[in-house]
Amino acid sequence: MRNRGPAARIAVIPGDGIGAEVTPQAVKVLKAVTLAARRPIEFVEFDWGADKYLREGVTLPPGAVEMLSDEFDAILFGALGDPRVPSNQHAADILLGLRFKLDLYVNARPVELLADRFTPLRDRTEKDIRFMVFRENTEGLYVGVGGFFKKGTADEIAVQEDVNSRKGVERIIRYAFEYARRNGLKRVCMSDKSNAMTFAHDLWQRVFKEVRTEYTDIDSRHLYIDTLAMEVVRDPSQFDVIVTCNLFGDIISDLGAQLAGGLGLAPSGNIHPGKTSLFEPVHGSAPNIAGKGIANPLGSVLASAMMLDFLEWRKEADALRGAVRAALRENCVTPDLGGNKRTEEVGDWLAKKAESLHTTRS
Ligand code: NAD
Ligand code: IPM
Ligand code: MN
Repeated sequence: MRNRGPAARIAVIPGDGIGAEVTPQAVKVLKAVTLAARRPIEFVEFDWGADKYLREGVTLPPGAVEMLSDEFDAILFGALGDPRVPSNQHAADILLGLRFKLDLYVNARPVELLADRFTPLRDRTEKDIRFMVFRENTEGLYVGVGGFFKKGTADEIAVQEDVNSRKGVERIIRYAFEYARRNGLKRVCMSDKSNAMTFAHDLWQRVFKEVRTEYTDIDSRHLYIDTLAMEVVRDPSQFDVIVTCNLFGDIISDLGAQLAGGLGLAPSGNIHPGKTSLFEPVHGSAPNIAGKGIANPLGSVLASAMMLDFLEWRKEADALRGAVRAALRENCVTPDLGGNKRTEEVGDWLAKKAESLHTTRS
């Protein structure tokens, strides 16, 4: 990570589809609140995404990783994915490339119901739906190790390896326990599929059993991923912290997002403590609504709040979250949440609100 100068430096990668629509709203809100707080911050935008890939054949430019880690404190990311790139090659190179090469091993995906009316679960309220998913973010089935044999023939074989290292498994499990302890949370659930994945997830079992002995102040348990998916729907109030592998974390975090109002509201952080880290909404580029000006920017704004937490600008982060809560209360929301506001209107409203919240609280 760079030696922090007078201003925080943020790399902005809006990306494709609605990524390019919601990210400018988050930047606008960040500018409003940091100006009110007199926090010096600089944004530098990068046009990496499908258009550049199709135009120039470039995904993650050479030297990008070193440049980001030497010159920036954090990255605000939109989304990648474009129907014109069916291979998704640019997303693999840029998004997974940054997660892997910056070694952002913690994918923190909070699930928090911010207003009762948004959960599809009957009789559940805000107090029932509040947990953190920690997804291992640098290995597992995502590493791209594998290949084809006899591709395109009737005898074709496709192999995709699940790579789990002792170090990788241990550091994410330990991070989950440390997070629970730091935040006064009492319950950690590790989820795997060790009954079927008898090598890779046997490692998860053994590491979990070992690490949990250091955290006897915390109730820790294990659930198979299929059972976890069922339990999260049946009774989400039983979870504080969930820790799991890369693929299962991807799936359970979308499920969790829906319990709390949908993908439009869900934020995430791709974090390596002390290093340049990346913050993004959980959702993708949503080609079905891209270009219509109706994408929900709240996930990106809440991801920006996580970024401010990472920079240790707590009051500013709280102002962003306060503004989002106010927008939900006053129904200043996009159609996915039952409102009639456009992306930009929500962004403008949030910028004003965050600024005034910060000013009244300081
Ligand atoms: P998606 O998250 O883009 O969309 C799923 C559904 O949720 C769609 O109906 C969409 O309209 C809705 N939605 C998502 N975000 C919304 C928002 N902010 N406001 C309102 N509605 C929203 O998932 P998908 O359709 O499976 O994927 C589309 C593309 O995005 C694919 O190329 C995929 O690989 C990519 N993707 C990228 C990321 C990322 O960059 N981090 C994450 C997920 C998917
Ligand atoms: C996410 C996305 C990505 C993932 C895709 C685009 C590779 O779904 O960030 O959740 O699976 O990690
Ligand atoms: Mn996903």
